[in-house]
Amino acid sequence: MIEEEEISVRMASPDDIDAIAWLYSESFGSTRPRDDVEQYLKPDGTWALLATMGGTEAMTPAGFVLARTILDETEVFSVGVVPLYQRRGVGETLMKGTQHIAAIGGARTIFLEVGTDNPAAQSLYEKSGYTIVGRRPDYYLRDDGKRVAALLLRLTLDAQNGINS
Ligand SMILES: CC(C)(COP(=O)(O)OP(=O)(O)OC[C@H]1O[C@@H](n2cnc3c(N)ncnc32)[C@H](O)[C@@H]1OP(=O)(O)O)[C@@H](O)C(=O)NCCC(=O)NCCS
Repeated sequence: MIEEEEISVRMASPDDIDAIAWLYSESFGSTRPRDDVEQYLKPDGTWALLATMGGTEAMTPAGFVLARTILDETEVFSVGVVPLYQRRGVGETLMKGTQHIAAIGGARTIFLEVGTDNPAAQSLYEKSGYTIVGRRPDYYLRDDGKRVAALLLRLTLDAQNGINS
């Protein structure tokens, strides 16, 4: 578990699926059914992190990460922090937790995608050390029908920014 001030990040368990579905819906402003989250977490290598506020595992859910590690690569599917707790370092703590779990699982690189219309997430990932390695045109379809490109980002792990950070 990683703790920074009142933020705690730990691996999620099956008991946390309801909390993650709620966090997903609140963070992205679109409903994410519990079953969807459960399905996400079924394939081999998938895992989730849960961030809570208050310094202990029992406190208020604040954010989550869904990811998968296969061999030496981790792919981050989703990162979200509920609006109430945004801009308080939860996202950054979750990204550190992601590096930690990825490194423990044997990953040498982490990949993720971010919309070109999401400057907050782009800034978080840049601050966390990710660099742009590709661009997928028209990747996301937004609610208003607009197509938006995705940037493909990569972080290379080593002993410094992996397990030891
Ligand atoms: C992106 C998101 C996860 C950031 O979480 P957060 O807990 O607010 O992030 P932090 O407080 O740890 O911020 C870390 C850095 O990210 C960047 N950042 C976060 N929110 C930002 C915003 N609204 N505008 C600009 N930069 C922002 C900043 O660089 C910030 O560092 P700073 O506070 O020193 O300036 C959160 O805004 C969110 O859940 N958004 C909706 C869902 C989403 O878009 N997820 C990502 C999909 S790829």
